[in-house]
Amino acid sequence: MDKNPEQQNQLFWDEVAPVHLASYNIRMLKENGSLIDEIQLREMGEVKNRKMLHLQCHIGTDTLSWAYHGACMTGVDFSAKSIEIARGLANELNIDARFIHSNIFELPRYHNEKYDIVYTSQGVLCWIKDIDKWAEIIRFYVKDDGFFYIMDSHPFCLLFNEQKSGIPEVHYPYFSNRRDPIHFPAGDTDYSDSGYTIKNDTYEWTWTTGDILNSLIKAGMKIIYFHEYNKLFFKGLPDMIQKDDGWWYLPGYEDKIPFIFTLKAVPDI
Ligand SMILES: C[S@@+](CC[C@H](N)C(=O)[O-])C[C@H]1O[C@@H](n2cnc3c(N)ncnc32)[C@H](O)[C@@H]1O
Repeated sequence: MDKNPEQQNQLFWDEVAPVHLASYNIRMLKENGSLIDEIQLREMGEVKNRKMLHLQCHIGTDTLSWAYHGACMTGVDFSAKSIEIARGLANELNIDARFIHSNIFELPRYHNEKYDIVYTSQGVLCWIKDIDKWAEIIRFYVKDDGFFYIMDSHPFCLLFNEQKSGIPEVHYPYFSNRRDPIHFPAGDTDYSDSGYTIKNDTYEWTWTTGDILNSLIKAGMKIIYFHEYNKLFFKGLPDMIQKDDGWWYLPGYEDKIPFIFTLKAVPDI
């Protein structure tokens, strides 16, 4: 491997950004102004005029959605192609949002504004190489009277073999070696466009529930809640079906497996 795992992942995200511009629900974003689901809207509460930092914003669809709900948005992502598309969408929709092209781990070196809300969601933690540093960055950016919010895949459901139908098979380790990410060779189909075959290898880290909670506590945050849900924001397992509410469910396992968690934390002062 001539690139480190993060550099390799960056290539992957540059590759799929234009694919996602075609496969994400941009039409609904244009028609409705927002793609944010009812769980996040309820749990985040009123965001009007609040200054929000969106970490790992990808092509900016959620960043622009929160701007529609009245927040003053800054999105950050290390994929140059994603940021280019996000800026293009903001221009096209005439939405005032700022996008910064940066690895979040390098951001504090040149950006030190503070925010009412630090936000990240849906497919983010598996790309994070160091969970403790990640939590320190969140603490660095959140104002003393602000809060942090995340919605992501539940660490428990990341154990299962994503290629296998039938009874979910425990395949990946929960207690992973924190330094060594899992290698996914090119050739899989994209999570948002099943007709697209991925050309780049990727590397993903597994963080346990304890890793996530403890990283934030160590960084000086107080956990307000940790909620768990039985549905997912994408087709994570082959037998999952999408219901009319837009979420993906695994029939027969609705009361057995947590697929999403949400967490709110505030500075512990
Ligand atoms: C699944 S996407 C973000 C989720 C967002 N909800 C979406 O689907 O539009 C993950 C994003 O994380 C970004 N990313 C991964 N590691 C990063 C890092 N260290 N710094 C900044 N961005 C990163 C990728 O470029 C990608 O755009």
